[in-house]
Amino acid sequence: MKKGGTSNKRYVIANWKMQLGVSESEALAQDELAACGELDGGVVVVLCPSFPALERVGGVCLGSLCALGVQDIFWEEKGQYTGEVSAAMAKELGAQYAIVGHSERRAHLGETDAMVNKKVLRALGSGLIPIVCVGETKEERDAGRRDAVVEGQVRAALRGVKLVGSQELLVAYEPVWVIGTGQAVEPEDAVRSHTLIRATVRDILGEASAARVHIIYGGSVDSKNVGDFLKYPEIEGTLVGGASLKAKEFSKIAAITWQSVVGSGSSQR
Ligand code: PGA
Repeated sequence: MKKGGTSNKRYVIANWKMQLGVSESEALAQDELAACGELDGGVVVVLCPSFPALERVGGVCLGSLCALGVQDIFWEEKGQYTGEVSAAMAKELGAQYAIVGHSERRAHLGETDAMVNKKVLRALGSGLIPIVCVGETKEERDAGRRDAVVEGQVRAALRGVKLVGSQELLVAYEPVWVIGTGQAVEPEDAVRSHTLIRATVRDILGEASAARVHIIYGGSVDSKNVGDFLKYPEIEGTLVGGASLKAKEFSKIAAITWQSVVGSGSSQR
């Protein structure tokens, strides 16, 4: 097994947030797919459009290298929850991944650790791979609480989680204060949290299941800095917001990610 991460795969997750209309999303998916067409196996590319665009982007992804992800799900299976979207609905439209607990939802919609935990359990129970977002705010970091916040969010999100069979889970370390700023943290700085998250996940799930948890970095990732992050085995991919909205830029990120796998000899990793 590799030193820091757990597998040869590297992830590139595009989070389009609430930035694009349905037709724009479909067109971007087509462009990104065309640009990523050369890549194979070692890199997992996941496109996460907004709910209304899921079906059309899913249609573009079908049979391609790109997988479909949803930006959120509700924790109940079904019922009287106006405005919510269930895991089963997302799955029916082709989603394989679900972002859960993004800091924008925690900040703007009051999502708590307990809600995030219920969503993680629902995603797994419905056959979606959760991408659980954790990360400290600037205030928390300045107050010296960074590690406590990150570890606490991971422990809360994974409460009661058991990975069965070949089930996988992703944790995205996203320092909240660099999201959307164009200024990522230093890779060495991210590695500190990745190492803490890895140890916490091992402690919660045990060694065997923890090997199916992949830890990625998010926060102002672009084609200029992604290679620096991927030099570290602890960083198993990236969650990309702003830079995923430009096909050329995103395909560069995907290509650099792919290169980081094949270039270093995937069988050796
Ligand atoms: P950013 O967003 O790449 O625009 O910083 C990342 C995220 O919010 O997941």
